[in-house]
Amino acid sequence: MTGQPIPVIIDCDTGVDDALALLFAVRHPDLDLRAVTCVAGNTDVDGVVRNTLTVLEQAGAPGIPVARGAERPLIEPVRAARHVHGADGMGDLGLPAPTRVPVDVDAVTLLRREILASPRPVTLIPTAPLTNIALLLRTHPEVVRNIERIVFMGGAVAGGNATPVAEFNVWHDPEAAAVLLTSGVPMTMYGLDVFRQVVVDGADVQRLRGSAEPSLRLAGELLAHRDPATSGDPTPGGGLGDAGAVCAVVDPAGLTTETLPVEVVLAPGAARGQTVVDRRPRAGEAEIHEGVREQALVDVALGVDVERYVRLWLKAVEGV
Ligand code: BDR
Ligand code: CA
Repeated sequence: MTGQPIPVIIDCDTGVDDALALLFAVRHPDLDLRAVTCVAGNTDVDGVVRNTLTVLEQAGAPGIPVARGAERPLIEPVRAARHVHGADGMGDLGLPAPTRVPVDVDAVTLLRREILASPRPVTLIPTAPLTNIALLLRTHPEVVRNIERIVFMGGAVAGGNATPVAEFNVWHDPEAAAVLLTSGVPMTMYGLDVFRQVVVDGADVQRLRGSAEPSLRLAGELLAHRDPATSGDPTPGGGLGDAGAVCAVVDPAGLTTETLPVEVVLAPGAARGQTVVDRRPRAGEAEIHEGVREQALVDVALGVDVERYVRLWLKAVEGV
């Protein structure tokens, strides 16, 4: 890229792969990480704050403001993903406690302040349930004028992970996801379909784990925790997960997207939290007979250049 770095804010639930996203965002020269906001998701919100502060300190970026956000979804109860992210929400790697505390304002206030203070429109990167973002959009709708785009990790075109059809971040707070999708802000959905594909090779993971630099060793340990675990390979690889959504901000050409209607299922039952992505080439019966389509149009990621994103991430994180 030439010119000024892109101002970004990450809203996360750190989270093993959220940590991989933060490590990349603080290291990539094309990004200006202006703030990080925390929300309950992979673990409780206080755990998310602690993990986020620790990662930023380990990454040598202790000055970035971090705020505590929503401690539960709008309607649903809290349902952490400790079976995926460990008891501490970040792989149980025995990391030190952070030496600083979050800012003394809540996440919505920090989001508003940083978005409106930015000299250039901000790109928001939610990698977590969308509770903070929904509260922001409802409380301070004026922020929309200084948001360039929202690139969020969430949803799926094909199968889910939290349920057979729903992805965790959307399933955790479906109403919040619906607020986001209907906000009218230009957005990219970096869903499970691409999220699952971007995996760092075992040899690279081993190199990182053996590094003399603490933040690179941390990156290696986090990746090792994200072994797809299907091969029994003695040098397993690790998925970049949420970090891929940040790669998509730096290098959107690495994604194949289509602008499609997306709707979140809010009804109780087996499909709650599913993102219904309409890939029909023509309008269906409902639109023809009842009027116009009301679903939000979203740039949905359908394909990803895996090599390209893995190289992008490694190059930034390793600084080579
Ligand atoms: C998403 O849920 C979390 O476990 C990950 O950090 C990612 O944001 C995947 O469904
Ligand atoms: Ca996450």
